[in-house]
Amino acid sequence: MEAQKKIDKSTSAVVIYPPSSFSKKALIDSLEKYSFLYKESIENPELFWGKAAQEIEWFRSWEKVSNGRFIDSQWFCGGSLNVAFNCLDRHLKGDRRNKRAIIWEGENGECLSYTYEELAKEVAIVANVLKRHGVRKSDTVVIYMPLIPQAIITMLACARIGAIHNVVFAGFSAKALLERIQDSEASIVVTADGGFRRGKIIPLKARVDEAASMSSQIKKVLVYKRVGCSIQMIPGRDYWMEEELQKVEEHCEPIALDSEHPLFILYTSGTTGKPKGIVHSSAGYLVQVALSTKMIFDLKEKDLYWCTADIGWITGHSYVVYGPLANGASIFIYEGAPDYPSVDRFWRLIDAHKITIFYTSPTAIRAFIKWGTSWIENYDLSSLRLLGSVGEPINPEVWLWFYRHVGKERCPIVDTWWQTETGSILISALPGATPMKPGSATLPFFGILPDVVDEKGQSLPPGRNGFLVIKRPWPSLLRGIHKDETSFKKIYFSRIPGVYFTGDGAYKDEEGYFWITGRIDDVINVSGHRIGSAEVESALVSHPAVAEAAVVGIPDSTKGEAILGFVTLKEGYLPSTELSEALKDHVVKEIGSLARPKEIRFLDTLPKTRSGKIVRRLLKEISLEGRITGDTTTLEDSQFIDKIAKAKNDFP
Ligand code: WTA
Repeated sequence: MEAQKKIDKSTSAVVIYPPSSFSKKALIDSLEKYSFLYKESIENPELFWGKAAQEIEWFRSWEKVSNGRFIDSQWFCGGSLNVAFNCLDRHLKGDRRNKRAIIWEGENGECLSYTYEELAKEVAIVANVLKRHGVRKSDTVVIYMPLIPQAIITMLACARIGAIHNVVFAGFSAKALLERIQDSEASIVVTADGGFRRGKIIPLKARVDEAASMSSQIKKVLVYKRVGCSIQMIPGRDYWMEEELQKVEEHCEPIALDSEHPLFILYTSGTTGKPKGIVHSSAGYLVQVALSTKMIFDLKEKDLYWCTADIGWITGHSYVVYGPLANGASIFIYEGAPDYPSVDRFWRLIDAHKITIFYTSPTAIRAFIKWGTSWIENYDLSSLRLLGSVGEPINPEVWLWFYRHVGKERCPIVDTWWQTETGSILISALPGATPMKPGSATLPFFGILPDVVDEKGQSLPPGRNGFLVIKRPWPSLLRGIHKDETSFKKIYFSRIPGVYFTGDGAYKDEEGYFWITGRIDDVINVSGHRIGSAEVESALVSHPAVAEAAVVGIPDSTKGEAILGFVTLKEGYLPSTELSEALKDHVVKEIGSLARPKEIRFLDTLPKTRSGKIVRRLLKEISLEGRITGDTTTLEDSQFIDKIAKAKNDFP
């Protein structure tokens, strides 16, 4: 089996120790301390998580830490709380009242900041607007917005009244938006007229209109004015948020919610053609994101923390909004692209705002490398003290570049492994404690029991590649897939019984460090964004020219992986460069620009097993290596390999 290939990388890794100047002031300052606490957390999880839960404020305290289950998992049973109260009101009692909660810079350079007091007030007002428009506890609110403070305010406003937010990334198309609105049964959308990206306007409201034209489900649209572009407002359905804010009072009591009350739904891609609505809880989610933010980012009162993720992704939920705000941190957010107006924008932001913690993605770092170190040298990055990476495996050379050129060998790097489903970081260094190995996500977080196993669930020895699984439930574990319990059980808990199946490949080294090798299912990780092969395939076959499609991920020097599409055409259509471009555009229209294939190849047939399943593995192997080494005896068309070898895109 491919996942078990013996690899001998485990001993050759470089080890970099946390700088002692960092460790001295860190919350967890040595590997011994980490190991001691980790052992305790595993031996007595009730005690460990019970203590972690005391860090947040409860309206009614819980009776039992956990029911210990993966399915129907419950944490802090019997408790009641409000997540927005914990992220806001709780900080208003002392000095944090006037501390800046959010500092925002727009793409055009305008800045805005909110103290905790100001943020709490705005959230209460927006919560009242939502209520005025009929939003009640447990209703779903879709948020389709650019990265502006109002997006975070709307998320927290939902949390305050027990509404469930479903944030849809602003890069998704009208169709992808509609699919997420429909699946989550939302009738209200909060959006903006548009957003800025690389100097262009993203027509958010127009896309909401397009989605609404395809479905009668959308009853209300609340619109923030961001860019000032002209938009159509439909009376009785569309409302300017700025006007609505004037109509309500400033006080909104946070409601007490059960520990297991859903906080949000967030859609992510899997192996099926349909995105999955991942459901997260209130208490377990909040307790773990708060604790992991504090420990992994070694958060101090004076930090200015910048996580570059968009709120449309889980990283934006857990480590832009909930984790940092639960800790009373000052967060920085930036609306636009890293290369606008020039490729030094991020360095300029770090220098100008004196950012201390910078959490970004390998894709961004690879782009910085491509743009060149000279862009960094003009800026003072001495405010930085800690760096982080998330979303994809980081190549050791990229890690070292980040360490040298951005962190100037002063800042530890936390390579954090986790997923939409895990809610919070499960494998990562603790920056003052863990010796780092570039390319490894290092060691498990407290209370987390990961392992690398074979297909029977047997633990594999160091150096053997296998499936990454988590052997014990944790508080911020997903509670389900919205309206799809069957897939929930099948995807995560059936392939290897008794554990959580991550869908990632990994190996451990002799020192128990985890090395993540990437997805082992049909999920492609483009720039840290999960895209299901099947979703792109269904987008391709919805084009009139396409009979069948198969999509694979191939390595890409900037984006980690890129999408390569193979298609067969219907009668009457011929391969051409124009058609290839039209198909790429069609995928953008169906899903969004993040799913645009890098290349389309035309074939007469696709490789299938005799039972009719398309064998993507073969397509991938051929495109990468130009030949096939694996088993081909089950192929329906034994001539296929010769045919595909000849398939070059040399159109007439
Ligand atoms: C990948 C993002 C290697 C992995 C938080 C996982 C990583 C998927 C890392 C989840 C990392 C995330 N090293 N791979 N540090 N972090 N991944 O749901 O394949 O968007 O399964 O969550 O990203 O992506 P998702």
